[in-house]
Amino acid sequence: MTSRTSRDVLRRGLFVLGRAIREQPRIFAVAVSGSVLFGGLVIASAYVVGAVVGDVVVPAIARGSVGVAALALAAGALFGISVLRVVGIFGRRLGAGYMQFRLQAAYRRQVTRRYLELPLSWHQRNATGTLLSNANSDVEAAWYPIAPLPFAVGTVVMLVGAIASLFVTDWALALVGLAVFPALFALNVVYSRRMAPRQARAQRLRAEVSGIAHESFDGALVVKTMGREAQETARFAARAGELRDALISVGRLRGVFDPMLETLPSLGTLAVLVVGAIRLRQGAIGVTDLVSVAFLFTVLAFPVRAIGWVLAELPRSVAGWDRVRRVLDATGEMPYGDVTLDPADPTPATLAFADVGFAYEPAEAHLPGAEVLGEVTFTVPAGRTVALVGPTGSGKSTIAALAVRLVDPHTGTVSLDGVDVRRLTAASLAGTAALVAQVPFVFDDTVRANIALDRPGVTDDDVWAALRLAEADGFVAALPEGLDTMVGERGTSLSGGQRQRLTLARALAGRPRLLVLDDATSAVDPRVEAAILAGLRAPAAGGPAASILVVAYRRATIALADAVIYLEQGRVIARGTHAELLATVPGYADLVTAYEQAEAEADGEQQPRPYDEVAPLTSGLEVEVDR
Ligand SMILES: Nc1ncnc2c1ncn2[C@@H]1O[C@H](COP(=O)(O)OP(=O)(O)O)[C@@H](O)[C@H]1O
Ligand SMILES: [Mg+2]
Repeated sequence: MTSRTSRDVLRRGLFVLGRAIREQPRIFAVAVSGSVLFGGLVIASAYVVGAVVGDVVVPAIARGSVGVAALALAAGALFGISVLRVVGIFGRRLGAGYMQFRLQAAYRRQVTRRYLELPLSWHQRNATGTLLSNANSDVEAAWYPIAPLPFAVGTVVMLVGAIASLFVTDWALALVGLAVFPALFALNVVYSRRMAPRQARAQRLRAEVSGIAHESFDGALVVKTMGREAQETARFAARAGELRDALISVGRLRGVFDPMLETLPSLGTLAVLVVGAIRLRQGAIGVTDLVSVAFLFTVLAFPVRAIGWVLAELPRSVAGWDRVRRVLDATGEMPYGDVTLDPADPTPATLAFADVGFAYEPAEAHLPGAEVLGEVTFTVPAGRTVALVGPTGSGKSTIAALAVRLVDPHTGTVSLDGVDVRRLTAASLAGTAALVAQVPFVFDDTVRANIALDRPGVTDDDVWAALRLAEADGFVAALPEGLDTMVGERGTSLSGGQRQRLTLARALAGRPRLLVLDDATSAVDPRVEAAILAGLRAPAAGGPAASILVVAYRRATIALADAVIYLEQGRVIARGTHAELLATVPGYADLVTAYEQAEAEADGEQQPRPYDEVAPLTSGLEVEVDR
């Protein structure tokens, strides 16, 4: 690390501190006042001790007797100073703690709120482990120097006061102070500069270690089934070892500098005694002055360290701050419009894709994004069910994501009831269209909480109605505590098909006017899948008045749709009824038949088939494994 970059760290670190002060000015003022009070009293205590020694103790020794009144006065003065110092310390600590933890909480909230605002494309580029460490350790690191900051500021004020009082006492002793205090300061600066790269490296490694840990826990199933435990452990151990080495090197540096910082003021005291003895002999100062100054040097040693604490934390703070800012400043936000669709509208919505084109962002910025969808035009008329059929990778999930505006098209428009989805408010969008993905996400909470999601007006009756439509009422009723049953982290206590039906019920409980099912019942028994779709299409049976866009494979399910759109490589190849496509489009017939055969083979093994335990076997055609 060059001194240029460490100067840069110092500059940017001071900027971060300035920001903290701007955000919490009053609490900071309280903390610094406490610290300045403390510093003033430290100086005062030195002079009181000097006075006690010079005016009480020395005369007493000379007389051979102690004056009780003088002694009581001295004790009272020292006690009073101690009490006030306690007040100062209390104010400083309380203020610093308040400031640090308030800032942490505020920024943790900002970072997590930002995560929710950022589009799916941003999340796909950023590992979950990194996001966790941004919200936790990076936010903490950014505000670490806040804890010693008021102490350090008070100490600077105190040092100025100390030098001034030295000049009042004696110029020769003041020169000793002028030599020692700046040297202490310089030593602190050198210390923090040496510390900078080490702390930054440790902070980066912390994030990497948490990233690896997260990935291996998340992929526990793969790790176990593929027998990758040893490799995963080794991968983790390597990075954990680097972190250990980085932290040891931090400790080693501390081991070298801490004693030096302790020793320098002691050397100062020694110099004061030598110079002071000479000045005493010359008659320039009295015993009181000499004791005061010597004592001052002793008591100053500790507070001066506070400056070092702040400087030493700055690099880590800057590194953490940079990573927090990266999230807060991330672009790619998808601003919402201000058009509202009537939330109480009981009629199904019309979904229209007009000439939609889309490309995912390339993994590396200089590569062009490959087109995933082109010239996609279709409509799901109000109250109708349209099936989306196509081989893996043909763009079905991308269309589903566009329909609920998880992503925006590059060309063309997606509209709901004739309004471009980009013009809708967030609440309108969420209240109108619901997506149920193939991979269900279940919160570690009760069945009720998973379905109602705290949405106002969703009663237990609504939850049961949604469960009935999702054909999930049976198994939920059989759970030990019904709706109050905890489903475990990510629903591990449920089968894949049960999880899928819970997430379907969650979508239904919001009474969406458009339901987008992205292969959302793939792990459910085929007969049940068809029954679910039939129920959803018949509002008379208590179903929602929703238009449905459904990604499906099974013949029985597809046959229920009013129309089928057949996709290949991001293009609409054919549209019509299931029977028409079966008769006229060879690719379509092959796909549907192949899937049916695969299902029949899988049927013999296990029923229902949890999607994440047995992959569907397809002959010749690729298997749908959603990203
Ligand atoms: N997040 C992503 N980043 C880059 N490419 C993607 C991403 N998701 C999907 N793709 C690509 O887009 C194409 C369409 O994917 P998708 O819509 O998931 O198809 P389907 O659901 O029909 O299997 C595929 O070629 C796939 O590789
Ligand atoms: Mg898909």
